[in-house]
Amino acid sequence: MLRILLLSALAATGIAFSPIIAHAPLTSSLLSASSSPAAAVTMAEEVKVGDKIPSVILKEGQPDYGTPKDVNISDLIAGKKVAIFAVPGAFTPGCSKSHLPSFITAQDELKAKGVELTICIATNDAYVMEAWGRTSGGADAGIIFLSDSNAELSRALGLSIEGGILVRTKRFSLIAEDGVVSHYFSSAKESSDTWAPNVLAAL
Ligand SMILES: *[C@@H]1O[C@H](CO)[C@@H](O)[C@H](O)[C@H]1NC(C)=O
Repeated sequence: MLRILLLSALAATGIAFSPIIAHAPLTSSLLSASSSPAAAVTMAEEVKVGDKIPSVILKEGQPDYGTPKDVNISDLIAGKKVAIFAVPGAFTPGCSKSHLPSFITAQDELKAKGVELTICIATNDAYVMEAWGRTSGGADAGIIFLSDSNAELSRALGLSIEGGILVRTKRFSLIAEDGVVSHYFSSAKESSDTWAPNVLAAL
């Protein structure tokens, strides 16, 4: 069931899916042999201005390999103006060389425009996100690094990339005010549309 839904989602988005087809019979028989009900992957429509940020629990890695803490995103952003940006992968080139540094550099300007908090999200696990935050200088700049390791937020925002071993998140940035999206920056045309200078220009 899971794979069948993934296949149709991939077919719809035009992503090459031949490697998955090759494994489909095996996966389907394993799933149908399972006694638990198959989990359905539900991908919402892509987020837009005016939407409420879905209430999900994300994980925040702690220093020295401490147990990651649960963070309720709704609680974290309630009553605040925040920037949220998401990347397909921690430590990957586009994310480490462009998207994240743009938000590190922009912290003062974002604050001057009333953005109280910047949150960086990826589906990498909390330990990886903590290490990326620490080694990139992002955590020192005040950015909060959160793991959407089960892709719950990415799917609820309609921005997951299905089909790999790790479900990833499409690159995006948004501004939310008291939990409601006021500006949304998709990477569908250009990755640089999601970088901080473009976000600042819209505020
Ligand atoms: C997050 O917190 C809000 C408000 O405190 C609550 O209504 C919501 O159910 C929580 N979300 C989850 C996923 O626990």
